[in-house]
Amino acid sequence: GAPVTQSLKKIEPGQQLIVAWRSLPVFIVNRTSAQLAGLPKQESRLVDPSSTGTSADQQPKYAQNGTRSIKPEWLVMVGICTHLGCVPDYVGDMKPEPFDPNWQGGYYCPCHHSRYDMAGRVYQGVPAPKNMVVPPYQYLDDTTIQIG
Ligand code: FES
Repeated sequence: GAPVTQSLKKIEPGQQLIVAWRSLPVFIVNRTSAQLAGLPKQESRLVDPSSTGTSADQQPKYAQNGTRSIKPEWLVMVGICTHLGCVPDYVGDMKPEPFDPNWQGGYYCPCHHSRYDMAGRVYQGVPAPKNMVVPPYQYLDDTTIQIG
């Protein structure tokens, strides 16, 4: 599939845009400072917080960091649950899942209740085995990315 170019200019803080790349939904999120500040807070409850274990193949080298991204605020991620391939819901800070009060929000998979944080890192105790995939992407200028 061809690369996809996307402007980031109209994506407000806290907002997610979904674009199609190779028939896959790619989530682009302008993470708020609060969402970024929350990333380290529940690392002890994540399956692979540093993405170096079971999730080592789930992102390019330049996204092998605490935010899983090139620029901290911009999350670019294939929105496919690593359990059986459903598209997780972006719930942000809303924490709609009542069974684990420790989960800080992020992504919730409606199929079998997998939960992820705001970097797509999988939360413990759910069926998904790995963090969601960060696709290859680059910045063409300050506010334009190319995926693929
Ligand atoms: Fe997401 Fe099963 S497909 S939890």
